[in-house]
Amino acid sequence: MRQLIAGNWKMNGRLADVAGYAQAVRAATLHTRLLICPPFTLIDRFATALAGSGITVGGQDCHANPHGAHTGDISASALAEAGASYVIVGHSERRLDHGETNAIVAGKAVAATAAGLTPIVCVGETEEQRDAGEAENVVRQQLAHSLPAGFAGVVAYEPVWAIGTGRTPTEDDVAAMHAAIRAALVEKLGETGKGLLILYGGSVKPSNAASLLALPEVGGALVGGASLKAEDLLAIAGAA
Ligand code: G3P
Repeated sequence: MRQLIAGNWKMNGRLADVAGYAQAVRAATLHTRLLICPPFTLIDRFATALAGSGITVGGQDCHANPHGAHTGDISASALAEAGASYVIVGHSERRLDHGETNAIVAGKAVAATAAGLTPIVCVGETEEQRDAGEAENVVRQQLAHSLPAGFAGVVAYEPVWAIGTGRTPTEDDVAAMHAAIRAALVEKLGETGKGLLILYGGSVKPSNAASLLALPEVGGALVGGASLKAEDLLAIAGAA
């Protein structure tokens, strides 16, 4: 399966950025899959600008319910209607800023799948947890409780301390964590768990992408800061 390079714009980007960005990524020759997850208000524009290119668009969150009194939230089906085909759920910024528990994340993954979206479920340890030797345990627990039964989406391993800091785990640590995640997926999901993509996220940039993407069980990258410039995201995709 081709690697997936996903850009998470977080709360960045404006309407004026869409056309130029879309034009740049459309013009590239890609050997990976490419996914752009902009703020909600830009999904529709991006989907239109990228139509027919094979480059996909995703949301950064969705609610577990299909509709209702949830001010400020967005349903998975509304994302799908806007042109999304993926949605990130359980990003550590959501877990931290909005108190999202593993159970809430699992509910969002179910809702995403029901709406025809592929959920990208994020997991990852804090620095304190890694220093305490708890990283693998923490991630295993997150997987055990954030992935719903029958999960068939993507998992993204994002160590919290590596996000936006310029620091990354050693290659050995990434490889070890991805192997542990694969084992947990197979344990939980059987045959399906063998084929699911596991992305690495956290300070991925053009200069470190080749070595990270070459590691066993790394099926792509979830890129924050470096996804804001099309040329950087394309350089990362080109390193795969
Ligand atoms: O979801 C991607 C993200 O959290 C990583 O961010 O800026 O370290 O690439 P960044």
